[in-house]
Amino acid sequence: MRVFITGASGWIGSAVTDELLAYDHQVLGLARSEESAAALEAKGAEVHRGSLDDVDSLIAGAKAADAVIHLAFKHDFTDYAAAGRSERAAVEGMLDVLAGSDRPFLLASGLAGADLGRALTEDDASPFHGPESLRGGSENLALEYAERGVRSVALRFAPTVHGTGDHGFTARLVQIAQEHGDAGYIGDGSHRWAAVHRADAARLVRLALEKAPAGSRVHAVGEEGVPTRDIAAAIGAYLGVPTVSVPPAEAEARFTWLARFFGHDVHASSARTRELLGWEPTGPTLLEDIAGGAYAAAAGR
Ligand SMILES: NC(=O)c1ccc[n+]([C@@H]2O[C@H](COP(=O)([O-])OP(=O)(O)OC[C@H]3O[C@@H](n4cnc5c(N)ncnc54)[C@H](OP(=O)(O)O)[C@@H]3O)[C@@H](O)[C@H]2O)c1
Repeated sequence: MRVFITGASGWIGSAVTDELLAYDHQVLGLARSEESAAALEAKGAEVHRGSLDDVDSLIAGAKAADAVIHLAFKHDFTDYAAAGRSERAAVEGMLDVLAGSDRPFLLASGLAGADLGRALTEDDASPFHGPESLRGGSENLALEYAERGVRSVALRFAPTVHGTGDHGFTARLVQIAQEHGDAGYIGDGSHRWAAVHRADAARLVRLALEKAPAGSRVHAVGEEGVPTRDIAAAIGAYLGVPTVSVPPAEAEARFTWLARFFGHDVHASSARTRELLGWEPTGPTLLEDIAGGAYAAAAGR
């Protein structure tokens, strides 16, 4: 398939691009800068210049492809509402192009908002609807198009898609621990984060592209829930600093925007995804990655 990928230059997108190219798909990658364009070309991908702020450029990309994988997102956690509105406009524009074509539309989503007291499953619908909700309610919007002739699939990534070079949430936790001279977890640290290694996530995206039915939610979850105190302890051990409990009232002062994610219990199963796609994550685990130096760059080493 010729696949238009937004966010093809990002952490997950560059691994997905490699995976698709290795399996004889063609990649048309969205690039908003010369640097991202050059990185995509060097891999053997085609480049489509454009931006999330230019919905017409996304529409043109979607028209030129057999499938769309939408991974770009404005990670501006200081104005998350604006990022959500932009996300919704981008997703709506591309879905309207694909309506009636039965072409695949896979979009990145998350497991946030879980906090169910049990593992979130693929059968649990996202509670977010409408342009003002988290990520612009884009997961539900996309899945509605399954009724309108789009093979839409929600890719629900664990909050940490980890590995060497990750610059996401776990990297930020490492930096915060280093700045403070100790590695913190919130409260008793019993709440968990699901996790997945980047290579496993990329393989899951390819399998979902190739065979997930319209309207599927798939969980990129290798580990159902790693206690946050264990994450902090692994970071502390790697950096050689103590591990400490941070009272919930002080969490925002220490973790700033990350407090709202690190303070949630994000516990999710991927049993149905494994069965549906024959996907088996092979790791390494999050704690193995931290101990093994995958976050050396975040620690300035
Ligand atoms: N990483 C995780 O642990 C994780 C967990 C849950 C969900 N997710 C979701 O998965 C998706 C991919 O995440 P990621 O970690 O790969 O993100 P990332 O490394 O930050 O990459 C973001 C991508 O989006 C592109 N982008 C950002 N703003 C753009 C704009 N205005 N116009 C065009 N492109 C733009 C970036 O392009 P440039 O190269 O030009 O910057 C980059 O390719 C996102 O939707 C993210 O929220 C990620």
